[in-house]
Amino acid sequence: MFPQLLFSTFLLFNTYFFQFSIAQTCPPPPTCPTISPPPRPTRTVTYVRPRPPLYDLSLRLLPRQPFNNPGPLANRARILAITQELKRNITFDPQNYTGTWVGNNYCLFKGFYCDTVPDLNITGLAGIDFNGARFGGNLNFFRFITNLPDIAIFHANSNNFSGAINQGLNGLRYFYEIDLSNNKFIGGFPTNVLSATNLTFVDLRFNNYVGTVPRSLFNFDTDVLFINHNVFNRTIPSNFGNTPALYLTLASNNFTGSIPRSIGAAWDTMTEVLLLGNKLSGCLPFEIGYLNRSTVFDVGSNRLTGPIPQSFGCMAKLQILNMAHNKFYGPIPEVLCRLPNAFNFTLSNNYFTQVGPQCMRLIRLKRLNVNRNCIMGLPFQRSAADCASFFARPRPCARESTFNIVPCRLPAASMRTRTVSQEDEVPPSPRSYSALIKPPH
Ligand SMILES: *[C@@H]1O[C@H](CO)[C@@H](O)[C@H](O)[C@H]1NC(C)=O
Ligand SMILES: *[C@@H]1O[C@H](CO)[C@@H](O)[C@H](O)[C@H]1NC(C)=O
Ligand SMILES: *[C@@H]1O[C@H](CO)[C@@H](O)[C@H](O)[C@H]1NC(C)=O
Ligand SMILES: *[C@@H]1O[C@H](CO)[C@@H](O)[C@H](O)[C@H]1NC(C)=O
Ligand SMILES: *[C@@H]1O[C@H](CO)[C@@H](O)[C@H](O)[C@H]1NC(C)=O
Ligand SMILES: *[C@@H]1O[C@H](CO)[C@@H](O)[C@H](O)[C@H]1NC(C)=O
Ligand SMILES: *[C@@H]1O[C@H](CO)[C@@H](O)[C@H](O)[C@H]1NC(C)=O
Ligand SMILES: *[C@@H]1O[C@H](CO)[C@@H](O)[C@H](O)[C@H]1NC(C)=O
Ligand SMILES: *[C@@H]1O[C@H](CO)[C@@H](O)[C@H](O)[C@H]1NC(C)=O
Repeated sequence: MFPQLLFSTFLLFNTYFFQFSIAQTCPPPPTCPTISPPPRPTRTVTYVRPRPPLYDLSLRLLPRQPFNNPGPLANRARILAITQELKRNITFDPQNYTGTWVGNNYCLFKGFYCDTVPDLNITGLAGIDFNGARFGGNLNFFRFITNLPDIAIFHANSNNFSGAINQGLNGLRYFYEIDLSNNKFIGGFPTNVLSATNLTFVDLRFNNYVGTVPRSLFNFDTDVLFINHNVFNRTIPSNFGNTPALYLTLASNNFTGSIPRSIGAAWDTMTEVLLLGNKLSGCLPFEIGYLNRSTVFDVGSNRLTGPIPQSFGCMAKLQILNMAHNKFYGPIPEVLCRLPNAFNFTLSNNYFTQVGPQCMRLIRLKRLNVNRNCIMGLPFQRSAADCASFFARPRPCARESTFNIVPCRLPAASMRTRTVSQEDEVPPSPRSYSALIKPPH
């Protein structure tokens, strides 16, 4: 048996059996059987990586204007016709995009970007960038884009596009980036978007999509999936962990139910996951601990409860952890505080009851915030009455024994942990938090 396993067993036991009480003193180290990890969940779909490039990647799509003499243009008549129709529908154009939509060289239109269409080997319309154009009017996204057959990138945040996407987009053979954030879409999740199977970037945040997200969303091969700030109010489908997305934001919806166990299946891809600001409940699945490439894990402001699984000690890359404003309880596992990249761990506004020396070290370094918990002897804690009334009610978790599982080899407890003075320290630069900011109007 590895010494580190013994050590973690001790901590595990503490986490799991500790009960808050005002007169609590640390219990003697108990012994309990080591629980060996079950095999991690596996994806039920397979993905082809790396993906073949669609357009020649040596051509950077967007900065290629002006394109004064492109030669023959792919699908010219069709694109000009739909552009004039869109122009007629645009009732508000504060930056005068449509003023440039004249003549028959669409490569010169503001917001239009051309490139060589691989299968046609002539210049075509590869990119639309209407981000922040603030077009007003009744603008039908589906009708517009289905008439842009060579499109690769469609960015149109902060406009007035709407309308049902009532058929597939699979005619768009090169389509790989869609940004429809902050438009006027309503209704259920636009499942037909998922027929564009080459999408690597899916940004539907800040719309008014309601109800359920389809299981197919998480069987869909994409790198980036932003669906925050909609009104999704059902559970996260159980196949969640099938997603190969590196960056995921489901924040600020009304998702209910628990975090699916399958999340552990995404261990080799999931890098940043933002679930904050929903109505998620239940206890954390220990399978989160398989996510050893995650740098950001944020479940703040939900209705989650239970202890922190010891498996979190395996999230070796974790830099930013937010669990604030939930109903978590128990001692904060020392293995969590030993994580080498801990930078901003926010566990405030819960009902945690105890911290050990490693966590005290992080608190002193201002990397761990445990304000407004039930930790005796620390400042800024909840009142004893608050804590007592919380603990008066039992809050059991299903699968309680799994909270002790440590599905990795932890560094020996005696090993020195890194300190702030260490020179190779790079502050984290998370990419997904910017998705929580509404694109500017
Ligand atoms: C819009 O742009 C066009 C072409 O650049 C120009 O002729 C027109 O005067 C502009 N309109 C406004 C309202 O600025
Ligand atoms: C594409 O067209 C150019 C000339 O326009 C030609 O030189 C080149 O060989 C063509 N490439 C392919 C793959 O057909
Ligand atoms: C934007 O679209 C909505 C509905 O789709 C409509 O009610 C509203 O008037 C439009 N806004 C502008 C500025 O055209
Ligand atoms: C333009 O408006 C008409 C009438 O509302 C609508 O049928 C059509 O789909 C719109 N087209 C585009 C490209 O927005
Ligand atoms: C995705 O790209 C591949 C390779 O270019 C192509 O064969 C396929 O048809 C595309 N899929 C869709 C749905 O357009
Ligand atoms: C979530 O539901 C509550 C009502 O239970 C509602 O007040 C709130 O606006 C909803 N949030 C979102 C993002 O729709
Ligand atoms: C979700 O929202 C819809 C539309 O607002 C509402 O009809 C439905 O009752 C909600 N479902 C749940 C589970 O909250
Ligand atoms: C991450 O976890 C996987 C499987 O759980 C394991 O094979 C791999 O070695 C781990 N990587 C690191 C850096 O610990
Ligand atoms: C740490 O994270 C919390 C919660 O996400 C955030 O409110 C706070 O600003 C962050 N602190 C720093 C120094 O980044």
